[in-house]
Amino acid sequence: MIPRDSTGEELWREQALVVERLSDLPLEEVVILPIVNSTNDIAKERLKARNAVLVLAKSQTRGRGKGGRRWESPPGGLWFSLGLRESGGDLSLVPILTGVAVAEGLRNMAFDARVKWPNDVLIDNKKVAGILVEPTVRGDCREVVIGVGVNVNVCEKRLQAKVKENKVGTLSGIAGHPVPKVEVLSHILRGFFRLWPLWRSGQTDFVVQRWKELSLTLNREVTVTRNWRPRQIVGVAEDLAPDGSLLVRDVNGLLRRVVDGQIS
Ligand code: BTN
Repeated sequence: MIPRDSTGEELWREQALVVERLSDLPLEEVVILPIVNSTNDIAKERLKARNAVLVLAKSQTRGRGKGGRRWESPPGGLWFSLGLRESGGDLSLVPILTGVAVAEGLRNMAFDARVKWPNDVLIDNKKVAGILVEPTVRGDCREVVIGVGVNVNVCEKRLQAKVKENKVGTLSGIAGHPVPKVEVLSHILRGFFRLWPLWRSGQTDFVVQRWKELSLTLNREVTVTRNWRPRQIVGVAEDLAPDGSLLVRDVNGLLRRVVDGQIS
């Protein structure tokens, strides 16, 4: 699908470049749009007719973050969703796997990227990428939409003003020069599709192990904030369980399994 908008020519060229760069990956469709509500919604829609789609947008008006938060998506960032129809694998591990793929992709571009549970990607302790995984299971039909947002060449002031509690960074700010988005995309997707067959066949030890090596969360004191009771758990993040949950030793010495929530 070739988008037509006021910058039509530019998008045509970009689409051709992206499709060529990703031509060896198992994608049935690549869609680049100028502006959308959320790429996750478009990917969900396009999965009705395909098994593997990639949707990119220059900006999003209603970008979604974890926990129902808003995700600022101005031009300059890499905002994309991968939609996959799948039969095997443990869906709860997809966020962990994607975090590893994004961090590895950035590491292959010489950024010292690390992961914060479950799948924020940080460089120099600044969040540069976020991941929102939205699975749908209807009988035998399992679909998963993996939304990834990377602050590549976004104006930092614009993000800082809006995302108040988060310490955020951009790749261009860290590198000191603009970073080619197509390279970032290609490195991330290549990392992802290297891990995906392992996940499918249940060989997830490698992913869990690699997440632990890249983690900024383990062996640290953490506060987990959730929307239900207990609203906060304070303790030391001891381990990542094989299903991707975080094991936190609380102040009373109890080992708690955390499947959701925000870590600070
Ligand atoms: C987070 O809160 O850290 C997750 C952010 C995920 C943002 C990406 S941008 C592309 C995709 N579309 C969305 O609406 N959200 C994800």
